[in-house]
Amino acid sequence: MHESQRYAAIIIDKVLGGSNLDLAFDKALKNSDEFVQQSQVKAITYGTLRYMGQSNYLIDILIKNKIENRVLESLIHVAIYQLTQEAHSDFTVVDQAVRAAKKIDFRKSNLVNAVLRNFLRNKEALIKGFVKQSESKYNYPLWWVDKMKEQYQEHWEDILRIGNEHPPMTIRINKKNIAVEKYVVILNDNNISFRLIHDNALIIETPVNVQDIPGFDEGYFSVQDYGAQLAANFLELKDGQLVLDACAAPGGKTTSILESYDVSLVSLEINAIRAKKIDENLKRLGLRTNLVKQGLDKENLWWDKKAFDRILLDVPCSASGIVRRHVDIKWLRRPADFINFGKNQLELLNNAWPLLKENGKLLYVTCSVFQEENNDVVTAFCKQHQDAKRGGLQFPESVAHLKNQMLPSKNHDGLYYEILEKN
Ligand SMILES: C[S@@+](CC[C@H](N)C(=O)[O-])C[C@H]1O[C@@H](n2cnc3c(N)ncnc32)[C@H](O)[C@@H]1O
Repeated sequence: MHESQRYAAIIIDKVLGGSNLDLAFDKALKNSDEFVQQSQVKAITYGTLRYMGQSNYLIDILIKNKIENRVLESLIHVAIYQLTQEAHSDFTVVDQAVRAAKKIDFRKSNLVNAVLRNFLRNKEALIKGFVKQSESKYNYPLWWVDKMKEQYQEHWEDILRIGNEHPPMTIRINKKNIAVEKYVVILNDNNISFRLIHDNALIIETPVNVQDIPGFDEGYFSVQDYGAQLAANFLELKDGQLVLDACAAPGGKTTSILESYDVSLVSLEINAIRAKKIDENLKRLGLRTNLVKQGLDKENLWWDKKAFDRILLDVPCSASGIVRRHVDIKWLRRPADFINFGKNQLELLNNAWPLLKENGKLLYVTCSVFQEENNDVVTAFCKQHQDAKRGGLQFPESVAHLKNQMLPSKNHDGLYYEILEKN
């Protein structure tokens, strides 16, 4: 276990230094030896970041002088997470953590031993202290908790709690390749338990590696949250329409549209590396789009001047509505980030609007629960554009939402949708 702990500490150190978790994970494990259990490293890393409000609180109490070696400090976070949330014996966790510490900084490994033993001696009393501070009570930075309270007087605690749970693994059956009834039989035959939540969306009860679900290579399904699957419906598409997916990678919504409608789709993506993912997904699913590897901007030089009937604008955002999938972001984001996200989102809306036909519709989407990226952006946009009118969206009954804001739940993430009609 000590190697998994050590790798988890290295990855967490990178995240706390500002790196994205997926990148840090790939980088750290690229040269790891074959005996490192990547799934164990992942589980420990995710768990530690989920509960870091608690380990921050404990480290403040247990360590008087700052630890200079940041990886060693991350290792203490890892061990505290394991001692409070995992089922191993205390002895195993501490013994293994000390072995990991020796590899990180031999001379300072005693410190890890001393801190962890001190914690264990006073565990019960220390844990009782979690409720004293919002950060350790909820496992989010204080400013995040306060922002949530301010914006969701009734639901803030539920939203925070769900954000610390394990996310559902939801798949979208590709009706172009297999009928839902047939695919369901394949899952039953393979003893994979699932819950059909809507039409062709189902939740796999015990999340597994995607390759272990039958029919992945055959393009029978894609992994996509149910909330994200709603985009194709909200666009109110008709076969033959000209449609733009303006922020398309990795292609979840592009492929969702193409599986259900025979439209002429342009998928735009500024990031060439991410655009490759769209290509891969289209190929696996047997679908085609007009993929343009360029960005939406003021000039839109890639555009052939044929106005679009529909535009899907799924903008880059804080990802605060999918924090249970991206456990790093709550520690990476800063309050000031929301000003920049909002500015960029408004600019993208401004740059997309001229491409829309009169009477056409634009669907604005984020996976954020914070209004600076959602209602505030749309309100500012509508003030500047007299020809833009907010439309109505009909959410399915099973979807938890406050107006256009989906509230993260056991069945779906926290997305925001707004439809704008051009007069
Ligand atoms: C939230 S993601 C889109 C997810 C995608 N719609 C899906 O469902 O799989 C936002 C994407 O917009 C891209 N992007 C950012 N700025 C852009 C721009 N100016 N033009 C086009 N794409 C942009 C990002 O690289 C990123 O891939």
